[in-house]
Amino acid sequence: MRQIWITRAGPPEVLQVQEAPDPEPEAGEVRIRVEASGINFADIMGRMGVYPDLPPIPVVPGYEVSGRVDALGGGVDDTWLGRDVIALTRFGGYADVVIVPVQQLFARPTNMSALQAAAFPVNYFTAWQLIAVMGGLKRGETVLIHSAGGGVGIAATQIAKHIGARVIGTASAAKHAELRSLGVDHLIDYRTEDFEERAREITGDRGVELILDAVGGESWKRGYRLLAPTGRLGMFGLSTIASGKQRNVLAMLGALTNTPWLQFNPLALMNANKGVFGVNLGHMWGEIDRMREWGDRLLELWGSGAIKPKIASSFRFDEAPQAHHFIQDRRNIGKVLLVP
Ligand SMILES: NC(=O)c1ccc[n+]([C@@H]2O[C@H](COP(=O)([O-])OP(=O)(O)OC[C@H]3O[C@@H](n4cnc5c(N)ncnc54)[C@H](OP(=O)(O)O)[C@@H]3O)[C@@H](O)[C@H]2O)c1
Repeated sequence: MRQIWITRAGPPEVLQVQEAPDPEPEAGEVRIRVEASGINFADIMGRMGVYPDLPPIPVVPGYEVSGRVDALGGGVDDTWLGRDVIALTRFGGYADVVIVPVQQLFARPTNMSALQAAAFPVNYFTAWQLIAVMGGLKRGETVLIHSAGGGVGIAATQIAKHIGARVIGTASAAKHAELRSLGVDHLIDYRTEDFEERAREITGDRGVELILDAVGGESWKRGYRLLAPTGRLGMFGLSTIASGKQRNVLAMLGALTNTPWLQFNPLALMNANKGVFGVNLGHMWGEIDRMREWGDRLLELWGSGAIKPKIASSFRFDEAPQAHHFIQDRRNIGKVLLVP
């Protein structure tokens, strides 16, 4: 098999393809011939050496694949053999062969392409947990989605529009026209505009009911201020520390300094009628049965046409460095994939 390794912490060029013998599935596992692997921003932060959840480098990153099951371990229902699947991987997804426990598999709908399938699990599960499970977004409410042009941002926009909420998105200016066509009602260029001020203008000074913020640092502080009564702030990443393409200690210190350590105390939350919560899908492995229910619900939404992964681009395995550059140069609108 071929795998893409993070050989050391550094710029995209540290990603290298290496060969290894094909692995064999053990009891309760299946082997998948991969057709596409999803790239997530966590892989980029892991490559830069600023993502604490990544196992020690050298490592094969990757949280999700699509492909076909070609071998079964003991005790696995043999109807899985030969099926097209979507799978969550606990790292190791940047490979053309992966082994996963059967609980992490979903049958791929016949009308979903292999590329769409690899773009599905992480982005939509994260967006679902933020919006439906923890954020409780309702029809008529306003949600502010940061990095609206990323994979999670587009998934979140589709789910929010399906619920009947109003979406304010922040994104680099070059992405605005396309994001508008994808359903974002109001766009803010958060790199040149003050998103708090603009969102106040848009909402007639009321603020918003839900914020999805994976930028972090000062953005959380300003977002908390922007919440309307009953507003909830969902924090799920810290992309502000990924400035440049290698570890940047100043950016990390800046984010730490600006994090609102003192803002969220229980009395202040009670008196302001506001909520804050965090999401980390990578810490949900103990809740796989719940995630399976979310997957089933999301696949129903796919079936009804309410959600549809948007593919920004796909790259061959030997182009993995270019794929990471593409995202870090802020060129993607939607999901970026690796294809063996
Ligand atoms: N906690 C979880 O379970 C979980 C799961 C998935 C993702 N996440 C987090 O959600 C965020 C988005 O992930 P994703 O997979 O949707 O991203 P993606 O598709 O790789 O796109 C990244 C987006 O982030 C924006 N961005 C913000 N800061 C950036 C930076 N320093 N460098 C490059 N782009 C930057 C870019 O938009 P603009 O050009 O418009 O700024 C871009 O659209 C990340 O912070 C990620 O860690 C968290």
